[in-house]
Amino acid sequence: MTQARESWGTRFGFVMAAAGSAVGLGNIWKFPYMTGENGGGAFLLIYLGFVLFFGLSLLMAELVIGRTAQLNPVGAYRKLGGPAWVPVGLVGIGAGFLILSFYIVVAGWTVAYIFLMARGALDNPDAEALGNLFGNFVSNPYEPVMYAGLFMILTAAVVAGGIGSGVERASKLFMPLLFVILLVLVGRSVTLPGAGEGLSFFLTPEWDKVTGKTVIAAIGQAFFSLSLGMGAMITYGSYMPKHHNLPADATMVAGLDTLVAILAGLLILPAVFSAGLNPSSGPGLTFITLPAVFAAMPGGMWFGLLFFILLAIAALTSAVSLLETVVTWLIDERRMSRLRATIGSASIIFLLGIPSSLAMGPWSEFKIYGKDILSFVDFVTSSILMPLGALAMALFVGWYMGQKAVIAITNDGTLRVPMIRLWLFMLRFVCPIGILVVLYNGLVA
Ligand code: TRP
Repeated sequence: MTQARESWGTRFGFVMAAAGSAVGLGNIWKFPYMTGENGGGAFLLIYLGFVLFFGLSLLMAELVIGRTAQLNPVGAYRKLGGPAWVPVGLVGIGAGFLILSFYIVVAGWTVAYIFLMARGALDNPDAEALGNLFGNFVSNPYEPVMYAGLFMILTAAVVAGGIGSGVERASKLFMPLLFVILLVLVGRSVTLPGAGEGLSFFLTPEWDKVTGKTVIAAIGQAFFSLSLGMGAMITYGSYMPKHHNLPADATMVAGLDTLVAILAGLLILPAVFSAGLNPSSGPGLTFITLPAVFAAMPGGMWFGLLFFILLAIAALTSAVSLLETVVTWLIDERRMSRLRATIGSASIIFLLGIPSSLAMGPWSEFKIYGKDILSFVDFVTSSILMPLGALAMALFVGWYMGQKAVIAITNDGTLRVPMIRLWLFMLRFVCPIGILVVLYNGLVA
């Protein structure tokens, strides 16, 4: 007996869930430090351009595959394209396992930092001491693994609830909460003494700092941030009712994702400048520099607490979409029950994540191509598998589906979508070329 496929209850619910997938550690942790390292406002403008032209076209393509097939990535490629396209779906599922395995490690750190903040353990304005604390924490062989496990359980609890009462309900609760927290924190940050310097750094383009590398980093970030190329959006699209205005919804999702990235920049950069610290301190910006900023401000503990709650929420809704992709595949293709699929895949992903966690401590000497395990898994997924998946998807929708995709995305021609010809052109020519450039540079550089 097969049940009817679930679908999103409301348009708002879908937009919150998809924006929840897109808004993640990439926006709040990665985007501000990349901006810091890549010339501030110039990077921001280039990034905006890529989201608008590339990102949105690919997001629409990925959603339309899912909505047309009403199936998981593997099933969707098989149904619409035939067996030859199945590997594209499978690579996506594999990437889902891998991305989530290291994502829960970093997400676990954010949960740990909520507790550390609440205990007052981070109440120290000395960035060096905070650096040591971070180093000691992540290199401990047990604690970070425990937090990754805890985070995996939270994610699984949402996914086990199903699309409507799990994913959609959690997204409708958490995403508005995320916005409120973000606005409170931005309000605090931009009114700090000396915040203006950070604002002008973020908003003034320094074009002489822009190199080929900046441009490539911006395209890569646009992909990663919109959760493209591994089938998460195929999965979320597969639960979308056929009468929804897909281009409008996709535009909302891309817009919200970008808005959160900009707000995160407005939160982090002025605060860092105001404390006289360095914005280009890389991945440590969130876990080392920011706690120092909070420690130096009155009532900083509360703002710090809110900040790490914000990060944990952002990570949770993204992790949910990654696990949902794997679970939907198991349900559709293997006829598993949702509960079994969730528990089984979450357990495997947790085990896969342990090496990434240990890579920060006991296994830090172990390198693959000069990278520790966590960075290597991040590299393989973000720089190879996701771009490859996005390339295949652009070619699939642009050339293989072609006019059929236009018919599907306009709800059989009943929706008027501005510039829909441009969409096909982007998918056929511009996106593939851009993706190849990213892939090449990821591999060679
Ligand atoms: N977009 C997420 C972020 O910004 C991360 C991410 C990358 C992701 N690929 C994904 C999330 C696929 C869900 C599915 O942090």
